[in-house]
Amino acid sequence: MINQSKRHLLKTGGLTALAMGLGGSAMFVAAKTGKQPISASPDKIPDQRKLGNLTVSSLGLGCQGLGQNMYGVPQPSRQQAVRLVHQAFDHGVTFFDTAEAYGPFESERVVGEGVKSFRDQIIIATKFGWDIDQQTGQRTGKLNSRPEHIKNVVDAMLQRLQTDRIDLLYQHRVDPNVPIEEVAGTIQDLMKQGKVLNWGLSEAGEKTIRQAHAVQPLTAVQSEYSLFFRGREKDVIPLCEELGIGFVPWSPLAMGALAGYVDENSRFAADPRQDLRGIIPRFTPEAMQQNVKLIRLVEKWAKRKLCTPAQFSLAWLMEQKAFIVPIPGTTKARHLLDNLGADDVKFSAEELRQFHQELDVIDIVGLRLPEAILNFSEAK
Ligand SMILES: NC(=O)c1ccc[n+]([C@@H]2O[C@H](COP(=O)([O-])OP(=O)(O)OC[C@H]3O[C@@H](n4cnc5c(N)ncnc54)[C@H](OP(=O)(O)O)[C@@H]3O)[C@@H](O)[C@H]2O)c1
Repeated sequence: MINQSKRHLLKTGGLTALAMGLGGSAMFVAAKTGKQPISASPDKIPDQRKLGNLTVSSLGLGCQGLGQNMYGVPQPSRQQAVRLVHQAFDHGVTFFDTAEAYGPFESERVVGEGVKSFRDQIIIATKFGWDIDQQTGQRTGKLNSRPEHIKNVVDAMLQRLQTDRIDLLYQHRVDPNVPIEEVAGTIQDLMKQGKVLNWGLSEAGEKTIRQAHAVQPLTAVQSEYSLFFRGREKDVIPLCEELGIGFVPWSPLAMGALAGYVDENSRFAADPRQDLRGIIPRFTPEAMQQNVKLIRLVEKWAKRKLCTPAQFSLAWLMEQKAFIVPIPGTTKARHLLDNLGADDVKFSAEELRQFHQELDVIDIVGLRLPEAILNFSEAK
């Protein structure tokens, strides 16, 4: 639970929060509905949810964009990024998602610096699995989950995160060259040393999840999941339910496309180092002629629910299962506050039925990632 002094800070800082919250998103709702958006609440503190045995805020903060350029927004300075981490905690976020690959390293450094004054009150999740030289940051572009490499990476992570333990450590992508049982065994060794407290897998298939869980129980699985990509609804999410594993949707706003500022006229930088969406098939101008139908549907329902499109999209994810905790990424305080407002958006059974009737007839065209990157997600 968030402590009383934080609550006080929240209330006394409420006007500032309100002012920040009434940014683009609030104007979106006001313009479209003439009414106040849900994000205007200065008392907003997210509820808590369980991911396996971990208790976290119902929405986490995705920290990738705090360590590298992502979606056409320049990476913030270290100082700005640390400030955003503080603001997230001040508004009740206790779940911070990072990875060695983000930067590389800079996102972990931001999180380490950002959370150090409240380290014991939050959960840090990070990820290993890419072949990255821990001294130089040089990437080979390949995977590497060999035991010695994982152990070296974890030691370097602990330094970057300024901590003595990682609350939740994911394998970022399944390494076909290292049996998952061997990876699980390595994690067990790290747990015995107290360096890792819980573990998870990212973008893993059902077979791998079962095999890994049999050796060392998993706390969470992280995979892409949003109104734009619902591919895990029939396999991994039911399996998580069966095994008591939490599920963390990445890109819950479809890389910003569900937040109200992207449509069929949007054009993204061709260089993925400036904007990853420039090389993603579902965001080509041709694909967006079709995919904008989903964006319009979300806008329509956001208007009906008196919330912003981002809030609607995140609330819909949280509505699917109690063990789902989205980690929207942002570089801006006003978007952070907007996203936290999703916690207050609730659906009746009839609303969900009607929404799904409209949703299910929209086909999303184009791959969710370029084929070369998607190949790393193909593990069964
Ligand atoms: N496991 C994996 O393989 C994997 C892969 C990708 C990501 N992740 C994790 O998932 C996190 C989130 O994913 P993501 O960042 O790719 O995608 P996302 O959360 O779906 O979208 C982020 C984008 O949405 C914009 N945005 C956020 N809130 C907004 C709001 N309320 N109004 C308008 N725009 C808003 C952000 O822009 P601003 O910065 O301008 O707010 C940013 O461009 C990452 O940070 C990372 O921690 C994991």
